[in-house]
Amino acid sequence: MAIERTFIILKPDAVQRGLSGEIIGRFERKGLKIVGLKLMSVQRELAECHYAEHKGKPFYNGLVDFITKSPVVCAALEGPYAVASARKLMGKTFGNEAEPGTIRGDYGSSRGMNLIHGSDSPESAKRELEMWFKAGELCSYERAVDAWTSNSEDRG
Ligand code: RTP
Ligand code: MG
Repeated sequence: MAIERTFIILKPDAVQRGLSGEIIGRFERKGLKIVGLKLMSVQRELAECHYAEHKGKPFYNGLVDFITKSPVVCAALEGPYAVASARKLMGKTFGNEAEPGTIRGDYGSSRGMNLIHGSDSPESAKRELEMWFKAGELCSYERAVDAWTSNSEDRG
């Protein structure tokens, strides 16, 4: 089954710079379906849980400070190979290294303020969606265009 869900965060720099609509639009134009969306302030405990894999690394405290500094937009996106597709659209981790044409490559050159988070595997996506969205906040629905963004080959 290759119709997946992935989790993205538009980080505080994206929201503050007025890039939320532009970035979400890129995912929509790719054909991914928004199945969850919210603006929220991030509590430190949630940020620490989300970035637990990086605990102890030199950039960890700064990363948690950054993501809790100002509101973020969280989204759940659904579509064929959604996890890998979203990561491709985002580009490499650091803005100064990300290719033009990608979100990080087009909108920034900072290493710390890199605009967006995206799940790095289907397993991470499942864990993160459960962590960031409450039961009932995600919507399953059909769109007429779904018939033109994926077919039986993608559904496995
Ligand atoms: P993300 O989790 O935010 O989607 O980013 P990613 O998978 O591309 O990168 P990851 O290795 O998971 O790192 C998480 C975030 O930590 C910051 N970082 N700084 N100074 C450094 O060496 C360093 N390494 C990572 C970045 O903000 C990255 O998004
Ligand atoms: Mg990561």
